[in-house]
Amino acid sequence: MAERVQLRVNGKSVEVTPGTVVAAAIAMAGESKFRRSVSGMPRGPLCGMGLCMECRVTINGLSQCRSCQTLCEPGMEVLTDD
Ligand code: FES
Repeated sequence: MAERVQLRVNGKSVEVTPGTVVAAAIAMAGESKFRRSVSGMPRGPLCGMGLCMECRVTINGLSQCRSCQTLCEPGMEVLTDD
């Protein structure tokens, strides 16, 4: 049986394979709104390679983390800005 990584996205338990980025785990949790723009518009991943900054979320209490550039770790707590 393959090793799995468990984390939480907005309080919801998600299990992923090692090497999965947080953006994918958020999508697996059924979330599509990662953050809000300054005008309040919902935003989500655009480039998937660390450039656009649209995928920023809070990870383990640290805000403004690029979810497309962060690997999932066991016990990680992820919050989107819904
Ligand atoms: S999706 Fe563009 S920085 Fe993450």
